[in-house]
Amino acid sequence: MFIFIEIVYRLSARCRWCQHNSHMTDSPTQSEQTQPEHGHDPVLMDEILDLLAPQPGETVVDCTVGRGGHTEALAQAVRGENDVTAHGLVLGFDLDPANLDYTTKRLTEARLNFVPVLGSFLQVQHQVRHLNTAADVVLADLGFSSSQMTDPQRGLSFMTDGPLDMRLDPTAPLTAADLIAQSSEQQLADLIFELGEEPLSRRIARKLVQARADKPILSTLRLAELVRKAYGSRARTSRMHPATRTFMALRIAVNDELGALRSFLDMVTRGAEQVEGDSWLGRRARIGIISFHSLEDRIVKHSFADLEKRGLAKRLTKKPVTPTTEETYRNPRARSAKLRIIRIGSD
Ligand SMILES: C[S@@+](CC[C@H](N)C(=O)[O-])C[C@H]1O[C@@H](n2cnc3c(N)ncnc32)[C@H](O)[C@@H]1O
Repeated sequence: MFIFIEIVYRLSARCRWCQHNSHMTDSPTQSEQTQPEHGHDPVLMDEILDLLAPQPGETVVDCTVGRGGHTEALAQAVRGENDVTAHGLVLGFDLDPANLDYTTKRLTEARLNFVPVLGSFLQVQHQVRHLNTAADVVLADLGFSSSQMTDPQRGLSFMTDGPLDMRLDPTAPLTAADLIAQSSEQQLADLIFELGEEPLSRRIARKLVQARADKPILSTLRLAELVRKAYGSRARTSRMHPATRTFMALRIAVNDELGALRSFLDMVTRGAEQVEGDSWLGRRARIGIISFHSLEDRIVKHSFADLEKRGLAKRLTKKPVTPTTEETYRNPRARSAKLRIIRIGSD
C-alpha cells in the first residue's frame, strides 16, 4: 500500500513540476523536451525586428548567436536587395562551438553576410574595431538555448542524467561539480540564496556538504535527488521542482553570467560616452537585451535608466517588452523573457 501511494505521489509531483516550473530558466516543460526546429525557438522575434529596426547596409552585432534564429532574421534585414554595396553584415558571438558551427552553416547556406567569433561577447568592442566599423544594432539574448538544455552531456537539466558540468564554454576551467566540491558550506548557501533566490539554501548546502563527504557529487540526478531530500516534505507542495533554483544558481555561477552582463553594460556605457569620437557603437545604435530572470533584468534596467539620465541614450522601452499569450503558449520557455531596448543619443 505504501509503495503504491509513493508511486502515485512521485508521478503526480513530476507532472506538477513539469507544468509549473517553466517560468524558471532551468525548467524544461514537456513541450520543451521536444526539440523545436533548429534546436531553439527564438523569442520575441517580431518585437525585436520592430524595435531594433535593422536597415539594409547596417552592421549588426549578435552577442549570443545560439541556433541563429535572431541572427538569420537580422542578417536578412540588413542585406541590400539588389545593391551589393548596400549589404550589411552580422558579427556573431557564442561561447559554445556547437551552436556557433550550427549557425555559421545555417547562414552560409542562406548566403548571408555573417562573421562568426567563438568566444565571449566581452570581445565585442575589440572585434567591431578590428572590422573597422561601428555597430548600428546590438542584440544579447542571454542564457542558453533549448538545444543546450536538452543535451544531457551539458548537465543543465535535472530531468535527465548527465555529468554535472553546466559550462556553456566547454573549455572554461570550472564545472558545477568542481564548484560544489571546492566551496565551503557557507559559500554554497550564499550562492544558492543570492543567485537562485532559494529560501532553503542553508538546508540544501548542508545536505550537499554531508553527501560529498561520502562521495563526490558528479551527476545531475544525484544533485536533484539531494536537493529534493533537503526539501523533505516541502517537496510535495512545491510549485516547481525543488532543484530548479539550485540548478539555476549553479549555472549562473559557473558561467559568471551576471559578471559578464555587468562588464558588457560597462562597455555599452563607454561606447555611449565616446560616440562622438572613436566608439564601437554607431551614433544612433539600438541595443536590445533579452533576460530570463529578475537578477539580470534588474541590472539591465538600472544601467539603461542611468544612460538615459546622463543624456547618453534614450530608452525605447520604459517597461520591459514581454511575449504575447500566443507566443508563450507556442513556446513556454518564452514566458520569463523580458526585452529592454535603448537607442544611443538623447533625442
Ligand atoms: C538564449 S541562447 C540564444 C538563442 C538565439 N538568439 C537563437 O535565436 O537561437 C543564448 C546563447 O548565448 C550563448 N552565450 C551565453 N553567454 C555568452 C557569453 N558571455 N558570450 C557569448 N555567448 C554566450 C550560449 O552559449 C547560447 O548559445
